[in-house]
Amino acid sequence: MKTTKTFKQMKRDGEPIAMLTAYDAPSARLAERAGVDMILVGDSLGMVVLGYDSTVPVSVDDMVLHTKAVKRGAPNTFVVTDMPFLTYHSSFSETAGHVRRLLQEAGADAVKLEGGADIASTVQRLTAAGVPVVGHIGLTPQSVGVLGGYRVQGKAQEEGEQLLADAQALEQAGAFAIVVECVPKQLGALLAKEINVPIIGIGAGAETDGQVLVYHDVIGYESERVAKFVKQYTAVSPIIEEGLASYVTDVKQRAFPEEAHTYTTNDTGWLAVYG
Ligand code: KIV
Ligand code: NA
Repeated sequence: MKTTKTFKQMKRDGEPIAMLTAYDAPSARLAERAGVDMILVGDSLGMVVLGYDSTVPVSVDDMVLHTKAVKRGAPNTFVVTDMPFLTYHSSFSETAGHVRRLLQEAGADAVKLEGGADIASTVQRLTAAGVPVVGHIGLTPQSVGVLGGYRVQGKAQEEGEQLLADAQALEQAGAFAIVVECVPKQLGALLAKEINVPIIGIGAGAETDGQVLVYHDVIGYESERVAKFVKQYTAVSPIIEEGLASYVTDVKQRAFPEEAHTYTTNDTGWLAVYG
């Protein structure tokens, strides 16, 4: 299995890191088979699979449940799990308690936290305690209420400089990789150049050290409102819907089950009593 060391080496070798989210065993199994380098159990699961409007309602229990399923599906892939909204901002012992569950109980290989310099001391303490940490800066969806929506970040020079300072703080604190979401490509490239740990972009241009996308966006599975940064590689929703509609029609018309899907007794005589 790849490790934090592998990912740092990939950056040095200029080999792009392909990261993808997954939320359950079958999606994880397919991601592993496709050769994904690193799976993210994103708290995007709140929106993508649990039907919430944002990532804010997601709980540690949700992350534990889905991380377990992902690890069962992809036992040989490095799995990063998101720390949910407001679970790493009070005491360190509370934060550590949540992290312990995600790593020990659920089997995550690392955790991801949103924030820059503001959370660097937490990242530092976790790393010192032996927890591999991924940072996440730029558009940080847990702060949607403060940001006032999902928009490109770091367009102005001052904002860009702040993001560079945030990335530097995270690197210094020991983060082994940093996700950078929804920033101009120039900033994505600058971060990849200036920072010594892998910069994994999502809407951060082609020059970052890797890319991450949401599973359902990549396969076009009930993800209508996609951001500009998404490329849909296939569209499974119509295929699934067609299959489901055919099933319903067949049941209504008694066209299913056919002989091939049907059991019979060895001795047809005995049921005659009931006939
Ligand atoms: O939750 C998530 O899927 C994420 C990625 C979009 C980076 O944090
Ligand atoms: Na997330």
